[in-house]
Amino acid sequence: MNRSKAYVEENKQRFIEELVQILKIPSVSADPAFKDDVIKTAEVIKESLKSAGCTLTEICETPGYPVVYGERIIDESLPTILVYGHYDVQPADPIELWDNPPFEPVIKKTEIHPEGAIFARGACDDKGQMYMHVKALEYMVQNDDLPCNVKFMIEGEEEVGSENLGWFIERNQEKLKNDVILISDTGMIAKDVPSITTGLRGLSYVEVEVTGPNRDLHSGLYGGAVANPINVLSKMIASLTDENNHITIPGFYDKVEELSKEERAKMGEAPFNLEKYKEALDLNDVYGEKGYVTNERNSIRPTLDVNGIWGGYIGEGAKTVIPSKAYAKISMRLVPNQDWKEITQLFKTHFENIAPSGVTVEVKPHHGGQGYVTPIKGIEYQAANDAYKEVFGKDPIPQRSGGSIPIVSMFEKELGSKTILMGFGLDSDAIHSPNENFGVWNYLKGIETIPFFYKHFTKLKQEESK
Ligand code: BES
Ligand code: MN
Ligand code: MN
Repeated sequence: MNRSKAYVEENKQRFIEELVQILKIPSVSADPAFKDDVIKTAEVIKESLKSAGCTLTEICETPGYPVVYGERIIDESLPTILVYGHYDVQPADPIELWDNPPFEPVIKKTEIHPEGAIFARGACDDKGQMYMHVKALEYMVQNDDLPCNVKFMIEGEEEVGSENLGWFIERNQEKLKNDVILISDTGMIAKDVPSITTGLRGLSYVEVEVTGPNRDLHSGLYGGAVANPINVLSKMIASLTDENNHITIPGFYDKVEELSKEERAKMGEAPFNLEKYKEALDLNDVYGEKGYVTNERNSIRPTLDVNGIWGGYIGEGAKTVIPSKAYAKISMRLVPNQDWKEITQLFKTHFENIAPSGVTVEVKPHHGGQGYVTPIKGIEYQAANDAYKEVFGKDPIPQRSGGSIPIVSMFEKELGSKTILMGFGLDSDAIHSPNENFGVWNYLKGIETIPFFYKHFTKLKQEESK
């Protein structure tokens, strides 16, 4: 048995217990009601880094929630790995759909997880995955197995768009200097199919407001004679995609990278079972852009989705009313090369253009970020590949993900380093959904695998600089 596996075996009860304690603090960054809990979580993470072996730990204030920083520098001449993660979580709503309270973690066996899974908001995204790195450091320090320098940057605003992380990075370039950035905040294909996330989609998030009359009106007295903002908004949204589920915004696809036949064929080799996919979601069919299969639609193709829509009367019973306003929150997932600010502008111009007279529309851009692709030819990828190989006994499959971690492209721009995404989550973890969970097996496997990345990266980096 390898040494990290043995250490994990010996300490797994404590590792689980420590994570459970962190999951009990509701660090919801989107809701100001949880402000004290978010700050408390930062303190707890800082302490955990200290006990794991960081020789310097700090709570770094920003205009928003603090960044937790930690480091263990053993020799300036050795490579440095910068671990990024986030300690904030998504809101738990809709709370009534949880089988247990979201911040009172329970461990339950499931079909996929006979060893048990931890059910709580943030179990996988990202407290569980972030904490794997803290425990991996503990193992390396305790067992004299840390081959290089390590820095931690754990933020508290990822789920709300990392608004102040750019601010923090700009001011701390020197402190954050590194040779590679390591993140566990994505998934893997299956427990017996290790994979490395090689791509993330970009994001443009906007809110739209359609205004008709200056007040809510009687829908009998005025119905038919004035524009109903909800009717109009629905039509406008419907027109944003055509019968092939192609997005109709002019210029939207201009910079989209088209993958070659070979690349698409390679993607198609990754194990994927459409029937199981549908079954897991109780769907009678999948849906999406014509000409692409599911695994392409959710990774290499851009999308447009309404995330929320509201207006008018939604209370008990019926009220006859033409609302004055209608709203929607819309996200566009982007692929590498599409610039999120440009896309936001294209959306805004188009949406204003298609508004019929009789209403006014306002488009309010929220946050966004660029997509990212990790080259599979670099030593960063090679090191991760070798790490999985040693633990799983087979090469991992490179896989582009549909999710976004907008900060990753900024890391490359500001800090000049590549990011490696070693995710250990599964689709069934239900991140952002009720009953989010993280398999105990995945959690422990992550802790076991991470030290191998340190080992291989240090070796390859030193060979490279010889
Ligand atoms: N960890 C996720 C992103 C993710 C999950 C990427 C699984 C790949 C696989 C992250 O916390 C997240 O939720 N990101 C947001 C974007 C952010 C700007 C709110 C997202 O993708 O919606
Ligand atoms: Mn995350
Ligand atoms: Mn998330």
